[in-house]
Amino acid sequence: MRIQGAWRRSIEELDSGAVRVFDQTKLPFEIAEISLATEAECARAIRSMEVRGAPLIGVVAAYGLVFALEHDASDENLRAAFERLVETRPTAVNLAWALKVVRISVQHAPIGERALAARHVARVIAKDDAAACEAIGRYGLAVLERIWREKKQGAALNVLTHCNAGWLATVDWGTALAPIYMAHDAGIPVHVWVDETRPRNQGLLTAFELRAHGVPCTFVADNAGGHLMQRGDVDVCIVGCDRVTRRGDACNKIGTYLKALAAKAHDVPFYVAMPWSTYDQCLVDGVRDIPIEDRSGDEVRLVHGLDGAGARASVTLLPPEQGVRNPAFDVTPAELVSAFVTERGVFDAAGLEAEFKRNAAERLHG
Ligand code: MRU
Repeated sequence: MRIQGAWRRSIEELDSGAVRVFDQTKLPFEIAEISLATEAECARAIRSMEVRGAPLIGVVAAYGLVFALEHDASDENLRAAFERLVETRPTAVNLAWALKVVRISVQHAPIGERALAARHVARVIAKDDAAACEAIGRYGLAVLERIWREKKQGAALNVLTHCNAGWLATVDWGTALAPIYMAHDAGIPVHVWVDETRPRNQGLLTAFELRAHGVPCTFVADNAGGHLMQRGDVDVCIVGCDRVTRRGDACNKIGTYLKALAAKAHDVPFYVAMPWSTYDQCLVDGVRDIPIEDRSGDEVRLVHGLDGAGARASVTLLPPEQGVRNPAFDVTPAELVSAFVTERGVFDAAGLEAEFKRNAAERLHG
């Protein structure tokens, strides 16, 4: 996608074999690139959220396993590196999914061929993610265009999104943002309400992406969404997700659930954009069973930005004795989701499971 006028992907292989990613902790003020060449560097980048977003952390974890096998391709190290990487972040299922895909693909290969085979699989995972997001964009564009034609008589379509589910969170295009980019490119006037998404402020990344692509957007505090929907200023919500269960419970960045409740109350359609790598067929009840990452309270205590002189600065909001809890995700029950926009079409919750079974049967029987 577009960054400083050039088309880039969020992750690219370098000639050295390392991967180049953007350090997302520095955005939007600084576009810093970092290269990852070892399993430990990949693990650190995922934990610290230098790379973030469910699909992207899956790809980075896959490369982490590649680097681990390049160092030592024994069964023992394959198992140990898998275990180390899978623990880096618990909620987004793409991470475990990508690691399993690599492990299954290489575990029966001769030890001397494993690293190269793993690299090939990591490349395929990255390529497929970009293709999936592009397809999500096309299906989502049809959804946005229909709502725009039905509701807006030529006026701008107001879309609300939460967190960052753009190209920075994936390999390219994004999930929730892909339909928005395509609508904009197709000449549909679209305006985006960008939720700040405290405490990590992923909304800053979303606004950065949208500005770079020329999509009109307005940044709002997380608490503004209900008010905007009540006033009729939101035509549709679209968000990404980190894990979706078999019955369609959708786990996404903390605060998504509140937006879904407000959308239901005000009859605003609420879409979840989802590559199939985010579907967890092993879980049914998302509220009960999806592991929710609890992150450091310092993410709530501290606010980061630039000071008056333009230098990076952090300020603390709370005295040290103040207890803080920082759940990073929440679960939106299936009944609050209008439909899921996937690379294989748009499905309601029941249709999602039916499509999963249909696809599995098709793969089995050719
Ligand atoms: O904690 P993060 O920043 O890694 O959050 C994950 C996300 O980016 C979102 O929840 C997103 O909406 C889904 S990923 C396309």
